[in-house]
Amino acid sequence: MHGKIGKERTMQTQVFYKEDIDQAAQCLRNGELVAFPTETVFGLGAIANNENAVKQVYKVKGRPSDNPLIVHLGNKEEIYHYAGQLNTQQQRLVAQLTRAFWPGPLTLIVPVKPNTFSLTVTGGLNTVAFRMPDHVETLKLIQTVGFPIVGPSANLSGKPSPTQVQHVLHDFDGKIAGIIASDPTQIGVESTVLDLTDERGIFILRPGAITKAMIEATIPELKIKTLSTAENQKIKIPKAPGMKYRHYTPHQQVIAVSADKIEALLPTLERQNTALITKETTATEIRLQFADYFSLGEEDKVATQRLFSALRYFDDIPNIDVLVVELLSDSEQNSAYRNRLLKASSRVIE
Ligand code: TXA
Ligand code: MG
Repeated sequence: MHGKIGKERTMQTQVFYKEDIDQAAQCLRNGELVAFPTETVFGLGAIANNENAVKQVYKVKGRPSDNPLIVHLGNKEEIYHYAGQLNTQQQRLVAQLTRAFWPGPLTLIVPVKPNTFSLTVTGGLNTVAFRMPDHVETLKLIQTVGFPIVGPSANLSGKPSPTQVQHVLHDFDGKIAGIIASDPTQIGVESTVLDLTDERGIFILRPGAITKAMIEATIPELKIKTLSTAENQKIKIPKAPGMKYRHYTPHQQVIAVSADKIEALLPTLERQNTALITKETTATEIRLQFADYFSLGEEDKVATQRLFSALRYFDDIPNIDVLVVELLSDSEQNSAYRNRLLKASSRVIE
């Protein structure tokens, strides 16, 4: 029904609309996979207490089994029900943070409660990641299921995260039971992951739309630490296991370049095989020298929303071998964009 008929196609992937949420919830309760929209990116849903369903999520994504999944909740209070024993500081922070930022793009790592979720959810860690997504249909879906659902980003492992229904179908049509229809996602990059379980302090493990400054403004006595990628790679068991894998990569070589360095790079490129992805502030004379161009809009926020779409667009174009992508300036608001682009890039010019 939707697009290509591949060899591995085994089932009909249904698109569920607003009025079909009960049916989608029934699929999840039966242990089937249903992709769902959020304000960040689409997730690949399975009910979090069904071992086979959760294993199937890893299998269809091709995801390493030591990379744990985020558990998505249908309301704020559920975190107290599904988390393990919280110490006094964790209790206070969970209350303040969920009040300020849920539903929204903030994932909280807290101690896990034994025998609550399928073991595969946490990949053997004694902590678990929770988030309450900000999307009406998805909240209704989780509430109707009556139990939290896991949701890694709904992309094949290593590929850019999906921000549109068609991205999810591109990777999983015929391999999952369904997807909840929605407009393209608002934010475009995954949630901020905040670890509340490290005795050395409170760490941002993955930057997202909720910045360090926003969290510190809400809880003035809190000082947040950011674990740099280098630090993360030094520790044997990375704090966020997902950080050690190659990510967000189309088949092309990706070069991240700040806006003012693009012109100087031009003479060194094989331009007939190179595409440019930048904000519209790039001069037309520069844009025209590339084989293809994808606009990231005019503002940094829009660029963030479109980054994964741009990478996915060119992933399907065989005769482009190199992508030159604008590296936004180094500000807190741009930290999620820069983090994802730098992970996708093999060369950085700034
Ligand atoms: O915005 C998002 O967070 C999206 C939407 C669908 O909600 N989900 C998402 O999930 O990005 P995923 O699986 O692609 O990324 C989850 C990240 C990984 O880097 C994983 O290693 C980390 O969270 N994570 C999950 N559980 C963890 C835990 N207990 N301790 C440390 N890191 C954890
Ligand atoms: Mg992901």
